[in-house]
Amino acid sequence: MSIISDDEFFEGQTPLKSIEQAKKETAVNAEDTDFDRNFENTIRPKTFDSYIGQTALKGNLKIATAAAKKRNMPLDHLLFYGPPGLGKTTIAGVIAEEMGVDIKITSAPALERPRDIIGILMSLKGGEILFIDEIHRLNRVTEEILYPAMEDFYLDMTTGKSQTVKTLRVPLPKFTLIGATTKAGELSSPLRDRFGIINRLEFYTMEELTQVVKRTAGILDIKITDGGAKAIAKCSRGTPRIANRLVKRASDFALVKYNEEITEEVAKESLEVLKIDKYGLDNTDRALLKLIIEKYNGGPVGIETIAAAIGEDVRTIEDVCEPYLLQAGLLQRTPRGRKVSPEAYRHLGYEVKNFNAQQALF
Ligand SMILES: Nc1ncnc2c1ncn2[C@@H]1O[C@H](COP(=O)(O)OP(=O)(O)OP(=O)(O)O)[C@@H](O)[C@H]1O
Ligand SMILES: [Mg+2]
Repeated sequence: MSIISDDEFFEGQTPLKSIEQAKKETAVNAEDTDFDRNFENTIRPKTFDSYIGQTALKGNLKIATAAAKKRNMPLDHLLFYGPPGLGKTTIAGVIAEEMGVDIKITSAPALERPRDIIGILMSLKGGEILFIDEIHRLNRVTEEILYPAMEDFYLDMTTGKSQTVKTLRVPLPKFTLIGATTKAGELSSPLRDRFGIINRLEFYTMEELTQVVKRTAGILDIKITDGGAKAIAKCSRGTPRIANRLVKRASDFALVKYNEEITEEVAKESLEVLKIDKYGLDNTDRALLKLIIEKYNGGPVGIETIAAAIGEDVRTIEDVCEPYLLQAGLLQRTPRGRKVSPEAYRHLGYEVKNFNAQQALF
């Protein structure tokens, strides 16, 4: 696997992201951190068999990769979208492994100038995979270079100046572009239309996350009981990245305080110390829900107002907090803003009858 934008370069390109990350290194934030990037590479599944869950997606991809191999053709371009930490980068690596080809990894913020993308495209060999993370952040010029490259495998290059300008059509080897994004809605439609296979990654079930936890513990040589694995899975917000991080934290806790093994009690105690509740909510999630309950009678309230009040940016709320709160049924999106559910009232210890009275007003 060749990495075009290594971590240092990536951080240099997006200082904003690293500041945000430093601020948000809580245990159940699904965004990746430096710690994750190093740790994740050791536990990332490399094959369809070790990639847990996402059954429908895996079924489709197995057929697509087998067919491409039979035809001796590269795979169609693929787009993966879904909240952070669900396995978009991981599945791209699995596909490369299954196809037996190299994968070049980059990220939209690193493709600032036309020569960045041109250089990468021209370095590709037939059948190789180009993975572009955060693909919704590509600039217009880069996107327009990609259109003919994706569709007909050529680059239009101009040489010379003003009157002597000539357009040169440079053929490219047939390659597969894999794009990943947490925000499919922000992709332009010409770009989206050029992907042959578009897939959404789903949150993982409790059973799947329990398997993730056990698999990770096995790789890291950490002893864990069934009960311990389940307790961690339950608080992982349907997200393998969080499950893995919690295994690591619980293991540190077990090592220092107990007999090294993560039992149900050890897991629960460590989750308590990390202030993670049974839904896997952290302080930011709770602050968000409490704000809507206490100050806005359960909502609806606009996302900008929420962001300003809890001191988070809108993007973090939309990409990181909200998808899981919506999925867990604690929050609802309405045309007039965000509303909490009766379950959110119950979970945070508020009286539900309050909720009903207030909601009747809307
Ligand atoms: N299906 C899976 N089975 C087992 N582990 C998984 C699976 N999917 C993801 N993981 C684990 O979760 C971690 C995070 O996954 P990954 O980096 O692929 O997420 P992502 O969707 O690309 O996130 P982001 O949007 O932040 O880029 C990986 O290191 C991997 O170990
Ligand atoms: Mg990723």
